[in-house]
Amino acid sequence: MKILVIGSGGREHALVWKIAQSKLVDKIFCAPGNGGISQQAECVDIKAEDIAGLLDFARKEKIDLTVVGPEVPLVGGIVDEFSNRKLKIFGPKKKGAQLEASKVFAKEFMAKYNIPTADFKIFDDPEQAKKYINKKGAPLVIKADGLAQGKGVIVARTVEQAIGAVEQIMQDKIFGSAGEKLVVEDCLEGQEASILILTDGQNVLPLASSQDHKRVFDNDLGPNTGGMGAYSPAPVVDNKLFEEINSSIIQPTISGLQNQSISFQGVLYAGVMITDKGPKVLEFNVRFGDPETQAILPRLNSDLVETMLATIEGKLEKIKLSWKNQACICVVCASGGYPDNYEKGKEIFGLEEAAKIKDCFVFHAGTLRRGSTSLTTSRSGQAKDKDKYITFGGRVIGVTGLGNTIRQAVDKTYQVVAKINFEGMHYRKDIAHRALN
Ligand code: AMP
Ligand code: GLY
Repeated sequence: MKILVIGSGGREHALVWKIAQSKLVDKIFCAPGNGGISQQAECVDIKAEDIAGLLDFARKEKIDLTVVGPEVPLVGGIVDEFSNRKLKIFGPKKKGAQLEASKVFAKEFMAKYNIPTADFKIFDDPEQAKKYINKKGAPLVIKADGLAQGKGVIVARTVEQAIGAVEQIMQDKIFGSAGEKLVVEDCLEGQEASILILTDGQNVLPLASSQDHKRVFDNDLGPNTGGMGAYSPAPVVDNKLFEEINSSIIQPTISGLQNQSISFQGVLYAGVMITDKGPKVLEFNVRFGDPETQAILPRLNSDLVETMLATIEGKLEKIKLSWKNQACICVVCASGGYPDNYEKGKEIFGLEEAAKIKDCFVFHAGTLRRGSTSLTTSRSGQAKDKDKYITFGGRVIGVTGLGNTIRQAVDKTYQVVAKINFEGMHYRKDIAHRALN
């Protein structure tokens, strides 16, 4: 089979790496890919948002299966476009992607189907929102309705912060039209967990549990990022809790989608807060998490392509996933300045040394292979010794390691991190701290 993976982050590198192990696969393309991905796939210079360009490429190359990493093309209707032309593609259609594309849609959906989530109110008028905030008092969480590159959620500890967030979103329009409406919701306390499941619209096949680390600094300090590291499994999600999440969140979501005639195939990702009143949904995503995917896929023994095909074809009941009984952690190495303005173009050292360590994987996110002015010139094939990599994004690489325990996985992964450096590199030193304590 010929596979096309869409996206350019660490999640997509992990997907390409896992797909490359499938016995069904002959050739992998990635659009647009990154420096590391170009070792395993042929990178093509088409942006993830360029649905027409991707469709054209898939038709010309006779791609057998397209796998969508990021949310933007899903929300833009790439699955509808491909399916209309009988091209196989993994992910939900535009209607289902609303669960991630609109916080207002997601909250109203949860309210309608009694799915536990923080109490909330929806506003399209800033003055009404401010009046409500003044009456309610802090802490509160303010969420721009639409996609905002992971920056649309503000956890406000004071009334002033909450009002400032409303002004930025609705009056200064920092997220553009994504801020025409917003959600003001109660602040939940507890541990977070990422629950990813595959669904063909009827059947549910859970992936291993995981936990992300959103804040940039150790001890969960500093601003939110796309995610600074992850580990799997998340011990807090034991069988009993998973059953509760399945019956109170996952199953009602699947039947709610069916009830609204939304056919949903792909990954459903519930970000949950485990409160003392039980698990509650913080957000839904309709794709693999990043960095969670880097910590989940190395634990999977089963063939991912076979599983994705079963998802698309409505045959998930035939698949039973096999997992390694090991823990996996992923530490993200980020560029100086990230998550604000960051530097690019720094040479990355130590990758070859790092690649020698067993059961460790260096997934690339924001990297380029040096010498290539664009990714199209970096053709497939193994990286040669003389290959050099430079930084090209905020999250640069995700160093990932397996171990028999979380402790072992943590120790091994940080040994590999210590071999890698580039100017300005920073990373969290406490990934998996909750599981270790
Ligand atoms: P989201 O993009 O909705 O996942 O929100 C990003 C992060 O904001 C979450 O991972 C939580 O850490 C935090 N968050 C979102 N909603 C709430 C809430 N109701 N209470 C507390 N924290 C929240
Ligand atoms: N790790 C958070 C996300 O993928 O949205």
